[in-house]
Amino acid sequence: MPTLLLFLTLLLYPLPAFSACDLRSVEFVRKDVLIFGGGSSGTYAAVKLRDSGKSVMIIESKRTLGGHAETWTDPLTGYTIDAGATVFPPVKRVKDYFSRWGVELSKARAKVDQKYVDFETGIEVNFQPTDTEDFEAALRLYENQLDKHPGLKNGFNLTDPVHPDLLLSFRDFIEKYKLQDLASTIFRINQGLVPLLDVSMLYVFKSLNKDQLLALRNNYLTTSRHNIRALYQKIADFLGPNVLLDTRVIDISRSTDREYDHRVLVNTTKSCRTILAGQLLVTMPPLPNERSTFPLLGRERDLFDKFHAGGYYSAILKKHRT
Ligand SMILES: *[C@@H]1O[C@H](CO)[C@@H](O)[C@H](O)[C@H]1NC(C)=O
Ligand SMILES: *[C@@H]1O[C@H](CO)[C@@H](O)[C@H](O)[C@H]1NC(C)=O
Repeated sequence: MPTLLLFLTLLLYPLPAFSACDLRSVEFVRKDVLIFGGGSSGTYAAVKLRDSGKSVMIIESKRTLGGHAETWTDPLTGYTIDAGATVFPPVKRVKDYFSRWGVELSKARAKVDQKYVDFETGIEVNFQPTDTEDFEAALRLYENQLDKHPGLKNGFNLTDPVHPDLLLSFRDFIEKYKLQDLASTIFRINQGLVPLLDVSMLYVFKSLNKDQLLALRNNYLTTSRHNIRALYQKIADFLGPNVLLDTRVIDISRSTDREYDHRVLVNTTKSCRTILAGQLLVTMPPLPNERSTFPLLGRERDLFDKFHAGGYYSAILKKHRT
């Protein structure tokens, strides 16, 4: 167990780059927006910013764009499987985005086999999912509550004082509005919000939003050819040299004066580079070690210190016939 823990810890906390760049030979490039993180949100932001005429650059520590949207190819059969982010709400924004990059979507299977297992004992738990009618009734109750907070639709436009329901824990909210029939589904959809029962409703509402309700009532979409990786390959081609993969941030100096650019020194596999950027967009998770290179201003530090990272594992198992 300690070995496993150590291994996971190392995976989660990659070591920072220590060696110094030769600053005399560093190449400079200027961009309107520099995006930290080439996962789904960073990539989407880059495309939208490019569409609106901004120059952008993404820096990503992994070898590919896409973050948790992975495709695994079976080396024996060539069969592919998506893992991580695999289903998407059936909204126009999603359909347009995939169709632009030529990646076909179709309805995800509505019913998947699920087993509930106690991870401490490995024993299956006898759990009866809620029947459809009760579930739909609970969904309507939930939606009525969600609709009371239109400021969460785009961003976090909160009232002052903040609506007291948003400060309730998920546990207290379920009790208050008798939403027990929704609990197990919300648990499935809000993976990564941990520990879910203690998370405040502000974040549950952001995660289980209108798009998700639509998907729950109709269907999620998924890639027809199990090739989510292709989407990110196409976008990487589109962005070309404006994507720096395998890249670490070595130093950031932020401008507090709007007239001057932020300076970010990075190390790619080939060379060190300095990017002068009008704006910085941070899309990677706010883990303390990731943040260590970030010179945060006082109020930002107070804010970011309140975040904690959640996550979950997704795995592909291969069944051998004997
Ligand atoms: C935030 O909400 C207020 C109303 O509470 C509204 O007047 C304002 O335009 C909203 N701001 C944004 C950025 O949506
Ligand atoms: C830059 O990265 C390469 C490997 O990717 C490494 O060998 C080199 O030491 C790094 N340089 C700096 C200045 O971090």
